[in-house]
Amino acid sequence: MHLQHLFKAAAALASVLPLSHATTLARSARRQSAESKYVFAHFMVGIVENYTLADWETDMNTAKDIGIDAFALNCASIDKYTPTQLALAYKAAAAVDFKVFISFDFAYWSNGDTANITEYMQTYAGHPAQMQYNDAAIVSTFVGDSFDWGPVKAGTNHSLWALPNLQDPAESSTNTQRSADGAFSWYGWPTDGGNSIISGPMTTRWDDMFVSDLGNQTYMAPVSPWFFTHFNSKNWVFICENLPTLRWEQILTLKPSLVEIVTWNDYGESHYIGPYSESHSDDGSSEWAKGFPHDAWRDLYKPYIQAYKAGESSPTIDTEELVYWYRPTPKDVTCTNDTLPAPNGRDLLSDTVFVATMLKDNATLTITSGSEKPVSVEVGAGIVTTNVTMGLGTQSFSVSRNGETILSGDGGLKITDECETYNYNVYVGAVKE
Ligand SMILES: *[C@@H]1O[C@H](CO)[C@@H](O)[C@H](O)[C@H]1NC(C)=O
Ligand SMILES: *[C@@H]1O[C@H](CO)[C@@H](O)[C@H](O)[C@H]1NC(C)=O
Ligand SMILES: *[C@@H]1O[C@H](CO)[C@@H](O)[C@H](O)[C@H]1NC(C)=O
Ligand SMILES: *[C@@H]1O[C@H](CO)[C@@H](O)[C@H](O)[C@H]1NC(C)=O
Ligand SMILES: *[C@@H]1O[C@H](CO)[C@@H](O)[C@H](O)[C@H]1NC(C)=O
Ligand SMILES: *[C@@H]1O[C@H](CO)[C@@H](O)[C@H](O)[C@H]1NC(C)=O
Ligand SMILES: *[C@@H]1O[C@H](CO)[C@@H](O)[C@H](O)[C@H]1NC(C)=O
Repeated sequence: MHLQHLFKAAAALASVLPLSHATTLARSARRQSAESKYVFAHFMVGIVENYTLADWETDMNTAKDIGIDAFALNCASIDKYTPTQLALAYKAAAAVDFKVFISFDFAYWSNGDTANITEYMQTYAGHPAQMQYNDAAIVSTFVGDSFDWGPVKAGTNHSLWALPNLQDPAESSTNTQRSADGAFSWYGWPTDGGNSIISGPMTTRWDDMFVSDLGNQTYMAPVSPWFFTHFNSKNWVFICENLPTLRWEQILTLKPSLVEIVTWNDYGESHYIGPYSESHSDDGSSEWAKGFPHDAWRDLYKPYIQAYKAGESSPTIDTEELVYWYRPTPKDVTCTNDTLPAPNGRDLLSDTVFVATMLKDNATLTITSGSEKPVSVEVGAGIVTTNVTMGLGTQSFSVSRNGETILSGDGGLKITDECETYNYNVYVGAVKE
């Protein structure tokens, strides 16, 4: 579908404004009722210029497999292929029984783009593949805190549930004025706000402020496994080494209305949980993302997503497995051929290998990190995160129970003290039966 068609459709429907107001009362009443929990994943449309319907369907089926309900489609105004790719995404989602919604990226959109945003919502709010919440189409943003959703709601012939990203939870006090229905937080990593780097571990400090400031409005909480970026415009790591499990444990306690995983495919910031797709455009991030699979994090996320949706406080394990993650080099290594310095924040990291065991019963986990002595620990049922000091060489993992080895395997990458370019992304893998 092309933009021209979108504009015509919206112009023809400019007279239906009162509809969204008519449903406001009914919606407010429903806010109090118990609502289903949903899990979304942030998807960067800006790097899939040439995605085909089949590419979209593959990603959506992979996401569905672990219980993700919808992609939040991050769209920039400057990409000429945004309308084409949005149309393909909605079509693919309808074909595989998945859902999507638009997340307008206000690094590119502005408060003056009300008409364009309304056109998009008018086109997609009632689409069969649009994610609905309380009978209203979810729409979200990256930044764009001060955008007024009132005129967009008035100009769209379907109810909207606006969950803009707020950089400061206190801004939610003016949400009613801007016709927002809740907020999405981007603070999925330890930070003092913005892009400030602080020591870990991650806490729910920001979530607690959002929940308190939002009152009865919808809080969409971020879940992210990692953060490392190495461009000349941004070069840092957040201190979030145990985040892949710790964050979900926080979510199971917090029980937010909605969860958005950050992200499915942002290779540039190393927080992807989707497959490393060869059909994306490479902005240079292949230097640290290619050959660094994160797929096993989806195995880890699946039981957490199930537990979150069921309102349980801990995950239930059906298939025994262990998931490991570690960086390719110790933090202090000097890389020999990088045009950029080491990333900000690296001094706050530790040299650690992480293993999350997913077990039905107690067992003994043994980790041999390269040259370090083997470390054995007793681990319980459920998901247990263990860490050991990083050693150079092969990483080996095994789990035994009653004297019998039930899981055993080597990590897919050796840790070395030689490198050409700085890479604080992690290699993620699994050892399965
Ligand atoms: C939500 O909170 C606002 C402000 O405190 C209040 O006016 C409104 O009645 C509440 N709505 C519901 C459904 O609880
Ligand atoms: C916004 O709408 C105007 C007017 O229809 C159009 O010229 C422009 O290309 C649109 N911009 C975007 C980013 O869609
Ligand atoms: C709302 O607009 C869409 C897109 O133009 C159209 O397909 C749909 O029939 C309209 N619905 C109503 C209730 O007017
Ligand atoms: C997408 O396809 C066009 C046309 O073949 C090509 O010019 C462009 O470089 C491709 N973009 C990417 C990111 O591969
Ligand atoms: C350093 O990196 C550049 C750019 O990737 C490459 O062309 C060059 O061969 C590398 N030099 C060495 C000594 O590896
Ligand atoms: C598992 O270990 C915990 C403590 O380590 C212990 O309390 C529990 O009884 C053990 N369960 C079984 C089935 O052995
Ligand atoms: C490693 O595990 C220990 C013991 O649970 C914990 O105190 C420490 O914070 C962990 N290290 C990291 C870097 O997460």
